[in-house]
Amino acid sequence: MLKIICYIFPLVIYLFAKEPISPIPLNIKVNIEKADLGKELFFDTILSKNNTISCHTCHLLNQGGVDNLQFSVGIDGKLGNINAPTVLNSIFNFVQFWDGRAKNLHQQVFGPVTNPVEMDNNFENLITKLNKTDYKNKFESIYKDGITKNNIADAIAEYEKTLITPNAPFDRYLRGDKNAISDEVKQGYVLFKTQGCIACHHGINIGGNLYAKFGIVSELKSKSKGRYEVTKNELDEYYFKVPTLRNIELTAPYLHDGRIDNLEDTVKFMAHYQLGKSLNEDEVQKIVLFLKSLTGQLYNHE
Ligand code: HEC
Ligand code: HEC
Repeated sequence: MLKIICYIFPLVIYLFAKEPISPIPLNIKVNIEKADLGKELFFDTILSKNNTISCHTCHLLNQGGVDNLQFSVGIDGKLGNINAPTVLNSIFNFVQFWDGRAKNLHQQVFGPVTNPVEMDNNFENLITKLNKTDYKNKFESIYKDGITKNNIADAIAEYEKTLITPNAPFDRYLRGDKNAISDEVKQGYVLFKTQGCIACHHGINIGGNLYAKFGIVSELKSKSKGRYEVTKNELDEYYFKVPTLRNIELTAPYLHDGRIDNLEDTVKFMAHYQLGKSLNEDEVQKIVLFLKSLTGQLYNHE
């Protein structure tokens, strides 16, 4: 039943929406003071227990918002067990993390700060440290209650809203510039729809708005059981948030466990395990070209 809903629902969207993909907005409204404070925190290793790791250590903005590692390296060289997704355009995801355990960007911040293999800190310690610095005045000028756990998350989440990537060639095409992409990219887009990728990858983030099973047509095993880890409901076993495909050419390696290091093989893998199809080389190349047309420009909120 779930599988049927998983296909029917996107199909209905696909048939009735003018386009199943919408462009990233050219501008986004943010509170500039909060976003600037959040930016400073995002790049600051003070967030970690021993002042060595910042958010940017694993989410490099000039590398598509990731670290390009299979598993991230956190505090004291400790290795994580899941591939870092991009922070870019994460504001458009319906939930955060592969298993959706954070319902928004604000809640997400609490994860890495206290994760023992990432920043290994606690908020009491962090707030004490921050209060001994310039941050004290900065927070007090914005927030009546100064430095608190929620205000730290609020500022970082506000900054993350600015991490959008408008103006990808494909978005310029959607906005009416018919020459923004080549004929091959257009054919790739048609294949992306007709082969069925669009059933899961659609909307503004071309992903990020539903969970789907990892291995629908053919069974797949992975260490993480995805959404099941949160709900403990058997029906959720191996369900993961469908990831965004924006800037995907920059964010190798791919899949939640970083098991594939290139786009061509990932496309073939998806066709095989998610759709039960085998694509020919020409089709794979065209879909990859379409995916590469989804690379945008980092927005500047200042
Ligand atoms: C040591 C590396 C590391 C650090 C440091 C780190 N992250 Fe992450 N980030 C990850 C990994 C790995 C995941 C995926 C975890 C999961 O889904 O279980 C992730 C997930 C995310 C997501 C969810 C994206 C999505 O599509 O679900 C956001 C947003 C994010 N991080 C922002 C931040 C912010 C903000 C900070 C700093 C407070 C930070 N990260 C620090 C590695 C890191
Ligand atoms: C039934 C839903 C579904 C369909 C259909 C589907 N995908 Fe996916 N896609 C997913 C899920 C879920 C993931 C994440 C899997 C994981 O790592 O656990 C994913 C991951 C990806 C990734 C890797 C993203 C990353 O950041 O690592 C790419 C690229 C991709 N899909 C492209 C495609 C293409 C191209 C097609 C069509 C040939 C397609 N997908 C069809 C659900 C789907």
